[in-house]
Amino acid sequence: MRYPSKLGREELEELISLWDMSPENRRKIHAVLAAEKDLRGPHLFRYYGSKPSKVAEAEKLFGEFIGVKHTLAVNSCTSALVAAFRALGIGMGDEVIVPAYTFFATASTVAACNAIPVMADVDDTLTLDPKDVERRITKRTRAIAVVHMRGAPGQMDEIMKIARKHKLAVVEDVAQACGGSYRGKMLGAIGTIGCFSFDFYKILNCGEGGFVTTDDEWLYTRATSWHDTAACWRPDRYAAERREGELFCGENYRMSELQGAVALAQIRKADRFLKGYRTSRDRILGALRLPDGIALRRLADPEGDTGLCIIFYMPDVERTKRALKALKAEGVPAGGIYDAQIKDWHIYTHWEHVLDLKSVARDGLPWTGVPRAELPRYSKTMCPKALDYLSRAITIDVNWAYTAGDCKRIAAGLNKVLRAL
Ligand SMILES: Cc1ncc(COP(=O)(O)O)c(C=O)c1O
Repeated sequence: MRYPSKLGREELEELISLWDMSPENRRKIHAVLAAEKDLRGPHLFRYYGSKPSKVAEAEKLFGEFIGVKHTLAVNSCTSALVAAFRALGIGMGDEVIVPAYTFFATASTVAACNAIPVMADVDDTLTLDPKDVERRITKRTRAIAVVHMRGAPGQMDEIMKIARKHKLAVVEDVAQACGGSYRGKMLGAIGTIGCFSFDFYKILNCGEGGFVTTDDEWLYTRATSWHDTAACWRPDRYAAERREGELFCGENYRMSELQGAVALAQIRKADRFLKGYRTSRDRILGALRLPDGIALRRLADPEGDTGLCIIFYMPDVERTKRALKALKAEGVPAGGIYDAQIKDWHIYTHWEHVLDLKSVARDGLPWTGVPRAELPRYSKTMCPKALDYLSRAITIDVNWAYTAGDCKRIAAGLNKVLRAL
């Protein structure tokens, strides 16, 4: 029996209405769809469809792009991080080191797994300072979550060396640096497991979405189980556990075919976007004349930077504020990163959920998972280098579609303001 699909012309028209186009072409599409007598909507669940799954195709292509053996699509990077920590077996009483500067999700997902996020300082790369990471390791530390912040790679040689020495897993949060690399290896293929965001603001996006990447088949199996509620997707779904740790209760982070289709098209265009970002960055940098005392952010590997932004440090906070005001007046797309008075979930001083040990339930977890005296000494001053660098940092947004003229204007505005200061 062939039953009608619940999804038909109306749903397709709603989708099409999301795209901007001329009223004339919209009318033409509407007429074509109205004349179509056999329009059948898609099977939007990634499993069980009669056609090849877009999600599965996106996973395959993304795995090839990053250069890993296993890739799992999920509905966000937040989900990817939880699935990664859960796949690693991280739970109550464990500690995970996270940077003081990252979107809060890197820390909140540790706590959502009932584990303790331990903030470590960042250095002039604005990524984890390896020396501080080593200082924060305790007998409870299970993993280091390195974040490739603002488009640029973290210091992977040093982080991997520390992880090997202390037998820790490395979770790469690549939400902000998809397509970046470190010493010739793609980010997300270096650590134990990689987590990507495809939310609207990222280098590649499908509205909301994410990917988990790993070379470890067992971690992939466990992440896949976690992402699908109850170890559903195994070679034999209802079979007994093949190995202890295969069956457990999970959640639902599945990506739908709608997101999968958009993600697939985006992955195919990745090189075009990355080339655009890098060309724009190089054009601006090529024309930029930084006066003495103003330093560009140090890049752990300049070759691997995605080109998403250009960051430099002013000599002091007062001049940072003056420069920002003047750059705004010049129409330069510049922004500050840290101002104690302005709330921003990317800087640990604003993570009151962690600093004040907030809990979702009466059990007080994750903070009650270790003896109180053994909790990290959370304070707003625990990572002073992050605050120093971030309060003097100015970031210039780079767009992949800037023209040569746009770049010239931005560099001219920067040169004018910085010289005058
Ligand atoms: C560094 C970092 N990690 C994780 C996330 C969470 O990503 P998502 O919005 O896909 O959950 C973000 C998003 O802004 C991010 O910037």
